[in-house]
Amino acid sequence: MTTQLRDIEEVLVAQQASDGAGVRLKRVFGGQELARFDPFLMLDEFGSDEAADYIGGFPDHPHRGFETVTYMLEGYMEHRDHMQNVGKLGPGDVQWMKAGSGVIHSEMPQQEEGRMRGFQLWVNLPAAEKMTPATYSDLAADSIPVVNIAGVDVKSIAGSLLVNGKEVAGAVSGLTTDPGYLDLAFNEDQHLEIDVPQGYTALVYVYEGAVLIGDKAYALDKGRMARLSREGKLKVQANAGSRVLVITGKPIGEPIVHHGPFVMNTREEIQQAVMDYTQGKLVASS
Ligand code: CO
Repeated sequence: MTTQLRDIEEVLVAQQASDGAGVRLKRVFGGQELARFDPFLMLDEFGSDEAADYIGGFPDHPHRGFETVTYMLEGYMEHRDHMQNVGKLGPGDVQWMKAGSGVIHSEMPQQEEGRMRGFQLWVNLPAAEKMTPATYSDLAADSIPVVNIAGVDVKSIAGSLLVNGKEVAGAVSGLTTDPGYLDLAFNEDQHLEIDVPQGYTALVYVYEGAVLIGDKAYALDKGRMARLSREGKLKVQANAGSRVLVITGKPIGEPIVHHGPFVMNTREEIQQAVMDYTQGKLVASS
């Protein structure tokens, strides 16, 4: 009996975009027809050697209805929010923030030159959790498990997945959407098989090198993301030097209405979020 492998349903090419105060970034996906990525809403890659591309940062702005996950590869950012949290993010650090009913925060570069590189992923919340209080956590690089499996450094930010039959437990667990978030660094030519629970969404984003996916060994180059079928194992094969994000999660299956920094289930809830923000009621005053 052969093991069923996940096939590619769709390949997305990261697009140049600008967000915050003129930060140049690559939007891998986000914005429209989000049901197919459920429970994920957006993935951005930011990366530049030019200060002008990032120096504006992301001044005070709101969110409601989902979680933001920032993963730094290089450079330094500072987070501040209405709950008086101050978080400094450096290379390898992760910030996991649940906006819930509302957060107002800034994300500003703490460097005036040099390279800045990382990712921001948006993870949706089910209706029952959209209006829960905001929470915030910083995960220092050295608190995030990294295990070497068959010559591949597997950094596990979230979730618990079987990689080549070995359980890899991440720094974050216990969320309703059960997100899995792996950063794979291939030190040699190798392949990995990852058991993703049946019915879960699985996304593979290549940010260095190139990989081959699935039975048909479809080649996926740097700057491309594959969305995979929801059944079977995920097979990723790559040459030494390739770097790949694997993002998996349990679909929520509810309507998604996205408007700027707010993601709710209905248009009325979006109108309410806009009104609350305009009237200074998005967050509890501190
Ligand atoms: Co933000």
